[in-house]
Amino acid sequence: MIELTRRYSFPAAHILTQAGLSEAENLAIYGKCANPNGHGHNYGVEVTLIGPIDERTGRILSPDLLDRIFQERIESRFARRLLNDDEAFRDRVPTAENIALVIHEVLADEVAKRSSAEVVRVKIVETRHNSCISGANA
Ligand code: NI
Repeated sequence: MIELTRRYSFPAAHILTQAGLSEAENLAIYGKCANPNGHGHNYGVEVTLIGPIDERTGRILSPDLLDRIFQERIESRFARRLLNDDEAFRDRVPTAENIALVIHEVLADEVAKRSSAEVVRVKIVETRHNSCISGANA
């Protein structure tokens, strides 16, 4: 088995608030990311797969296939959107942590369907100061 990591990015906006809390409470938890006007990040995404090497190609999957899956399932769904509007974040605040989990879940299904590799982790780089990694137990 061997691991493969590919790196992507997409721009998106979010507002960190919990519906049941007041603006002051949200501000206390999320700071400036609770600003009700929203704000954007250029999210870096590192997708790591593990799988057996295909003897014919010497690869665990075609990078083009992963690029297509990322484009179809992640970029077309989340890029240039307000993440709060997506059903995946209806009950989850779109923190970098939850974005990593959602992207992991979405890609895991599709990669398993279309290859013999599996997604082991997804890293979200939100800012220079902040990144998150989903794990197998997440
Ligand atoms: Ni933010």
